[in-house]
Amino acid sequence: MRLVLVGPPGAGKGTQAQFVASHLAVVQISTGDIFRANVSQGTPLGKQAKEYMDAGDLVPDEVTVAMVKDRLGEPDVKTGFLLDGFPRTVPQAGQLDDILSEFGTKLDVVMELVVDDSEVIRRLSGRRTCRSCGHIWHVDFDPPTKEGVCDNCAGELFQRDDDQPATIQHRLEVYYEQTAPLVGYYAERGILVGIDAMGPVDDVTERASAALRRFTHS
Ligand code: AP5
Repeated sequence: MRLVLVGPPGAGKGTQAQFVASHLAVVQISTGDIFRANVSQGTPLGKQAKEYMDAGDLVPDEVTVAMVKDRLGEPDVKTGFLLDGFPRTVPQAGQLDDILSEFGTKLDVVMELVVDDSEVIRRLSGRRTCRSCGHIWHVDFDPPTKEGVCDNCAGELFQRDDDQPATIQHRLEVYYEQTAPLVGYYAERGILVGIDAMGPVDDVTERASAALRRFTHS
């Protein structure tokens, strides 16, 4: 299964990706996570990406596409993948089609997580991420037992720099302008599935699993 998750910042892509990728036994590839790892390691790629990420802007397509192409060439991707946060522009989507066709394959399904802007702001303002295992928590909706500490691995929880109110608002604008057109792009190709991503995490996971079952059996 080769799957893409698309949706506004804070829609729950990372949260659902963890369940869906493990359920389908495919590797999860998050461009945001790869960029953040490079920023924290101070690599040349991280230095290039940081100013865009801090501002809530997209990293230029040529940088992002080259990084994804490298990742998709690795052996663990052969049996399938879940892309979280890529593609994010129509040119990126076209280049993904080209890369996959070069590798002799194509996307099976694109899942759109649909949420209100007000919910996005609530979710992002309270998000906390584990520095060690990457697990995503929320101070109100999914709080860890001990504040600031991951239940899974006892790692330190941190708040992302781009989760400040002004940056969240800008990221939403960038989403509607540059990423939302992907919905039409994939609908035209008959591989788009829309999911109501409001409500509790488990309900969204159930809707996503049911939609995937319907899609793969149709
Ligand atoms: P990226 O990391 O991809 O950020 P994003 O798309 O803005 O998405 P988020 O990670 O903020 O949200 P999410 O949908 O994953 O939500 P989550 O599951 O965490 O990208 C960051 C930056 O990197 C970009 O701005 C850009 O600069 C750069 N970048 C990345 N990819 C790029 C690309 N392809 N091209 C160019 N630049 C790129 O959930 C959010 C919170 O809500 C959590 O606390 C969670 O616990 C909670 N939550 C989740 N679901 C629910 C629910 N159902 N109910 C209640 N709470 C919930």
